[in-house]
Amino acid sequence: MSDKILIAYGTRYGATTEAAATIQQILEKEFKLNVEVYTIKKGKKLPELEDFPHIIIGSGIKEGKWVKEAEEFLKNNDFGNRKVAVFISSGFAGEEDLYDYAREHFLDKVIEESGVEVIEKEAFGGRVPMLYIPQIHFYRILRRLPRFQLDNRNWERIEQFARKVGKKFTEED
Ligand SMILES: Cc1cc2nc3c(=O)[nH]c(=O)nc-3n(C[C@H](O)[C@H](O)[C@H](O)COP(=O)(O)O)c2cc1C
Repeated sequence: MSDKILIAYGTRYGATTEAAATIQQILEKEFKLNVEVYTIKKGKKLPELEDFPHIIIGSGIKEGKWVKEAEEFLKNNDFGNRKVAVFISSGFAGEEDLYDYAREHFLDKVIEESGVEVIEKEAFGGRVPMLYIPQIHFYRILRRLPRFQLDNRNWERIEQFARKVGKKFTEED
């Protein structure tokens, strides 16, 4: 096995891509790790785990759900003794009063269902692109979504997550 790290994530609107890029930068610059970033998409071949001793899996959240293919990637793989870390990009998680809810329902629950033992997990805030703001307002009128800032990504939390993961990936077992 090589020493490469895989960051495999699902996104609908691009916010998770930016979180993944920030994590990649920290792992490369501060921990001198070799990182490959992979977007999981419907119809696209999934990455081979063979080359990667450590894996980070992420997803954006829409209507309480992961990107389906990213959730399947987490749930359907046998990661063996690889170190696995998980994150989500979620509008609720960026709000103090909704953070615990987001963590419990969108992060802990999915990880528990997967049966994967993770070394680190975190829920970051998210960003709703301009084009989808009317949709958010519509959902609010239907009371399907509580109020959250349209860009509440907490970069500090993303960076802290990357550093914790970097430490755990590089420490001797
Ligand atoms: C139509 C729509 C529905 C959303 N539903 C939720 C939700 O149920 N819970 C939540 O935490 N965030 C929700 N969000 C906010 C997203 O989690 C946020 O935009 C996130 O950053 C999306 O990640 P992505 O850009 O990688 O797809 C929603 C956003 C949109 C546009």
